[in-house]
Amino acid sequence: MSPIMPVIPVNIPGKTTAYSVFIESGLLSRSSHYFTSYTGHKAAVISDTNVAPLYADILLSELRSAGVEPFLITLPAGETTKCSANLDRLYDFLLDHRITRSDIVIALGGGVIGDLTGYAAATYLRGTRFIQVPTTLLAQVDSSVGGKVAINHPKGKNLLGAFYQPELVIIDTDTLGTLDSRQVGAGLGEVIKYGCILDAPLFERIERCGCRENLVPLYPEIIARCIELKAQVVSEDPLDTGLRMILNFGHTLAHAIENAAGYGTVLHGEAVCIGMVAAAGWGETLGVTPSGTADRIRRLLTALDLPVSLPESLTPDCLFPSMALDKKSLGKDIRVILLDDIGQCHSTRLGAQKLFELMEDNA
Ligand SMILES: NC(=O)c1ccc[n+]([C@@H]2O[C@H](COP(=O)([O-])OP(=O)(O)OC[C@H]3O[C@@H](n4cnc5c(N)ncnc54)[C@H](O)[C@@H]3O)[C@@H](O)[C@H]2O)c1
Repeated sequence: MSPIMPVIPVNIPGKTTAYSVFIESGLLSRSSHYFTSYTGHKAAVISDTNVAPLYADILLSELRSAGVEPFLITLPAGETTKCSANLDRLYDFLLDHRITRSDIVIALGGGVIGDLTGYAAATYLRGTRFIQVPTTLLAQVDSSVGGKVAINHPKGKNLLGAFYQPELVIIDTDTLGTLDSRQVGAGLGEVIKYGCILDAPLFERIERCGCRENLVPLYPEIIARCIELKAQVVSEDPLDTGLRMILNFGHTLAHAIENAAGYGTVLHGEAVCIGMVAAAGWGETLGVTPSGTADRIRRLLTALDLPVSLPESLTPDCLFPSMALDKKSLGKDIRVILLDDIGQCHSTRLGAQKLFELMEDNA
């Protein structure tokens, strides 16, 4: 595959910044030239116990080839790692190795490592240089681009965070070869989200594939398209005050599911799948989403072996308190994204009582 190199311009109030996302099969083992602008500096590489044994040596060797001195820290794999205790561990690690603002902090892993590392990079010394090397489908199509970084709080997901853009994103699509099928599915949930909110042809293309196996050859193209879509949205709304909220389609319920089930029990992308079917149903009940849309999304997700309904242990009653605490809630109103059709959406606010009724109707 030839390199796809979209340059993503992200406008931050008061200044303009841009960074490149490089996508290529086998890129990691050819990445040293991306690091030559850091020659003579140190790199703090943050990874997890699943990813480090597979890919850290390659990255460290590429850094050394570029004249960068790397240090690796490996954290436990999984959503519970995105917590304040591990943030402290990272600060200690960065201080112990005397990482300065001109050195780089590199996230090598999925969205958990990306979010946690990004938050450490945003806050350590009031901001250090930051690179993302995402290794899950979810991180490659979504979380590594756009600058949202965060950790979880026991009272809710991503409640502590910042907007902090990486200066480079390196995507080696070969890393997906070692990802387990459930994690691939979670990434596909986010891909379908992009189709639902912004790109009917993408949604239809996946529908035509019919099953997961047929999608595999399309991954590089799909990843590039999702990043392109996210880049457009983020450029218009880097601080998530308007348009960017559409990326939260399905997330109002998804975050509550993750919180109520216990972080890591239901994967983020799986929770988004359930949330998208629910949100399409809410839209249908409200008369803004064409009838049959929720069924169409449900059919596609089912064909891809993805979850479409709440686990039996979770009822609207137990999810609602988490939804009211979600950062998208505004006073008594809760912000939700509704579909006007596949490929088009809008953001709206619903009263808490109304949303509760919709949840019960569509449970
Ligand atoms: N910042 C954003 O804009 C944004 C957007 C969406 C999601 N997120 C966050 O992303 C997180 C979920 O990310 P995720 O789904 O990547 O989960 P993850 O980082 O936990 O990775 C999933 C699992 O796959 C393993 N893994 C990663 N890459 C691998 C590889 N190539 N081969 C084998 N195993 C591999 C990991 O060790 C982990 O066990 C959530 O915390 C969510 O809130 C952030």
